[in-house]
Amino acid sequence: MNEKIEALKQEISQYTVADQDELEVYRLRFISRKSVIGDLFGEMKTVAPEERKAMGVRLNDLKNAAQNKFKELIASLEEQQNGQPDDVPDLTLPPVPDSLGAIHPLTQTQNRVVEIFERMGFNVADGPEIEDDFHNFTALNFPPNHPAREMQDTFFIEKNSGEDKQDIVLRTHTSSVQVRLMESQKPPIRAIMPGRVYRNEAISARAHCVFHQVEGLYVDRNVSFADLKQTLLHFARELFGSETKIRLRPSYFPFTEPSAELDIWWGTETEADRRVTKGTGWLEIGGCGMVDPNVLESCGIDSEEFTGFAFGMGFERIAMIKYQIKDLRLFTENDVRFLKQFRAFG
Ligand code: DAH
Repeated sequence: MNEKIEALKQEISQYTVADQDELEVYRLRFISRKSVIGDLFGEMKTVAPEERKAMGVRLNDLKNAAQNKFKELIASLEEQQNGQPDDVPDLTLPPVPDSLGAIHPLTQTQNRVVEIFERMGFNVADGPEIEDDFHNFTALNFPPNHPAREMQDTFFIEKNSGEDKQDIVLRTHTSSVQVRLMESQKPPIRAIMPGRVYRNEAISARAHCVFHQVEGLYVDRNVSFADLKQTLLHFARELFGSETKIRLRPSYFPFTEPSAELDIWWGTETEADRRVTKGTGWLEIGGCGMVDPNVLESCGIDSEEFTGFAFGMGFERIAMIKYQIKDLRLFTENDVRFLKQFRAFG
């Protein structure tokens, strides 16, 4: 065994390589797990116990010599190649990791919703997030003592009890933009108004204090509830697929009469489905109804001549249905592992 070690040492010290292929031959012979040196380590079992220690030291020396030589050979090959121009890219390198961003799922949802309504002839409008009491509440027919005006729902910027100076709030819904539109335009009005809204609510899988809505408004002569229903059905089927089921559930909003809640069928298959739909299988995505004549009048529109429908939907809910997201806190946590998954969409 001593002779074998000596012979290999000799061979290694004289070894030269001309290219990568020869380097690989060297690697296989002296470095890889199945190398001749590896075999010698295997033979250690046959060495007499009292010689084993000394033999081990010699074998390790050989192994180190082989590795040092390997580094030298790599370095000498690199030196040879440096004769070539630098600007030739090394095509054998692995690709640089793809670090493209993704459009946020809520933005993708908004883009899609806008596209669908634009095709139905709706314009896009927006309004301020810091609103006065008149546009957020009074013009929308909220009675002065309505619970939504109380602290638990509304973030107040300025609380003014005097009649000459009104409260300033973070808008609690995009319905305030309806008022601004009707004040500034004459019917026919057909617009959607996407935007951010604020409510003083505890954060959970289903609720957040900052979220996003899209408001819709259509005011003209002879606008009916049937128009509303068909518009929402068409929208839901464009967004979620032609088999989508919707449900309009009678409800109450101060600014519409009659009013309804818009639900989308989500299912009750899994535990999470039942949790998110409170066991019903239906997921509420917004409210709607016929614009209350009082609202038309407070915006200067003749309620004898014109009627209208309105709706307001939450983007978070819509995105949850579309992408099967079970917890809306994911939207604001900025976890790239979540956000990256939306690269493939929109
Ligand atoms: N503003 C309501 C909310 O925030 C949603 C809503 C309901 C808007 C009915 C509407 C409507 O335009 O007609 O919950």
